[in-house]
Amino acid sequence: MIEKINTLLAEVENIKAGNVEELEALRIKYLSKKGEVSMLMNDFRNVPAEQKREVGMMLNQLKEKAQARINDLKEALENSGSVDDSIDLTRTAYPVPFGTRHPLSIVKNEICDILKRLGFSIAEGPEIEDDWHVFSALNFADDHPARDMQDTFFIARNPETVLRTHTSSVQIRVMEKQQPPIRIICPGRVYRNEAISYRAHCFFHQVEALYIDKDVSFADLKQALLFLAKELFGPETKIRLRPSYFPFTEPSAEMDISCNICGGKGCPFCKHTGWVEILGCGMVDPNVLDNCGIDSKVYSGYALGMGVERITNLKYRVKDLRMFSENDTRFLEQFENAQ
Ligand code: DAH
Repeated sequence: MIEKINTLLAEVENIKAGNVEELEALRIKYLSKKGEVSMLMNDFRNVPAEQKREVGMMLNQLKEKAQARINDLKEALENSGSVDDSIDLTRTAYPVPFGTRHPLSIVKNEICDILKRLGFSIAEGPEIEDDWHVFSALNFADDHPARDMQDTFFIARNPETVLRTHTSSVQIRVMEKQQPPIRIICPGRVYRNEAISYRAHCFFHQVEALYIDKDVSFADLKQALLFLAKELFGPETKIRLRPSYFPFTEPSAEMDISCNICGGKGCPFCKHTGWVEILGCGMVDPNVLDNCGIDSKVYSGYALGMGVERITNLKYRVKDLRMFSENDTRFLEQFENAQ
């Protein structure tokens, strides 16, 4: 009998109930009329007289312990909230606010989608680059001012490792690995050591396009540019190419579009010229092709590159470039319907 009581004492110590039903089953098992404790009580009369005192005390202890343990479990269940009626299930839900696409992403996607329709596909490269891919392979002379500390962020005082200053570096990465035909778009973030103001930031975004094949001509470039401009700014848009210079293209040009605000008549936005500049472009310099192991006697190509912030400003007239990186939802929410 003593042994049985000890076993039950240990057992009661460890009982657990996950819900009200389990708890009731335990109560019945130990404390009901036909439960373990009552059965032992019934047997009490068979206990030899000299043990009665000890066994009696133990039985009382068991009864109290079982009762206390079951009370504890009951309290725990009630507090766990499984029977919590403080929630009003009929109340309407809070609206979950959706994020909106960032204006720069909207415009970048738009540019990429237009170029994809011309057969271009996306290529990506690292933002931490080496001198070769950002400058040397792109035909920058050793003393070109763009390598200067003013413009380029160098990493760990190592003149070899830089944050890319343009996405033209991705052209090199692709051309080193792949022979023509090549038709790629390289969207991405670039870095320049500029003082931050409403019109310049130390990082911004570019989309670059590169097409290399046999017999690619300036006329192909011009046609692609006209298509891009009309798709981006509307069918009335006109383009104008001005001769320019980039180390990696020859000949090089900058493209203006007819001012999308005054339609070309002249306004303060286009400084009364009727034109606004949107990108740089040109025929890939043969040196660049040769640097990448592409035979410049067989292949030719064009490249173009533009700043996403600039195009976004033109489309949405954002006056302060810093707005793009402040994450102010009052600004970002305004583009809710633009995507
Ligand atoms: N990489 C030039 C820049 O960052 C932009 C550019 C100009 C890209 C002409 C080109 C190009 O591909 O042909 O200013």
